[in-house]
Amino acid sequence: MDLKEYISEVKDWPIPGVNFKDITTIMDNGEAYRYATDQIVAYAKDKQVDLVVGPEARGFIIGCPVSYAMGIGFAPVRKEGKLPREVIRYEYDLEYGSNVLTMHRDAIKPGQRVLITDDLLATGGTIEATIKLVEELGGIVAGIAFIIDLKYLNGMEKLKGYDVLSLVSYDEE
Ligand code: PRP
Ligand code: MG
Repeated sequence: MDLKEYISEVKDWPIPGVNFKDITTIMDNGEAYRYATDQIVAYAKDKQVDLVVGPEARGFIIGCPVSYAMGIGFAPVRKEGKLPREVIRYEYDLEYGSNVLTMHRDAIKPGQRVLITDDLLATGGTIEATIKLVEELGGIVAGIAFIIDLKYLNGMEKLKGYDVLSLVSYDEE
């Protein structure tokens, strides 16, 4: 199955000049969504992961079915103020301003092998922040899985030394 055929491209959204890659047309096709999930499950089994971690919101869409299929847990990374118990936080710069992501302090047991999931790698800021949170809690990042990698934004450079799976790559906008 060629997953790229199920990804929609939306020109000039959310702002002029951006060619948005939309995965909802994978999700609303049961066969394509299962196919994408199965690829990531096979990868996660190979990496012997104990736990899946994904940043809200689209990281949940990718990670939760993987966690269900493997019978292992899923721990959410959320924006500040959303998790009810004690959290750790990581603040990172955006083009304009900054963003904070948090995880529950007890979400990972030290030494657990973690798969990080998200729909898309762009500049890498979101996933880099997620890695920092996982490692601060003593998790081992055993693999990182995306549906899409936008190669022209060079996010992979932030992931040097990590094992990364990407199902579909775009070389240019
Ligand atoms: C999008 C996407 C990734 C991130 C990629 O999430 O789902 O998480 O951007 O960009 P980066 O590599 O430059 O960090 P967004 O922040 O739009 O939020 P959402 O998942 O809640 O839709
Ligand atoms: Mg996201």
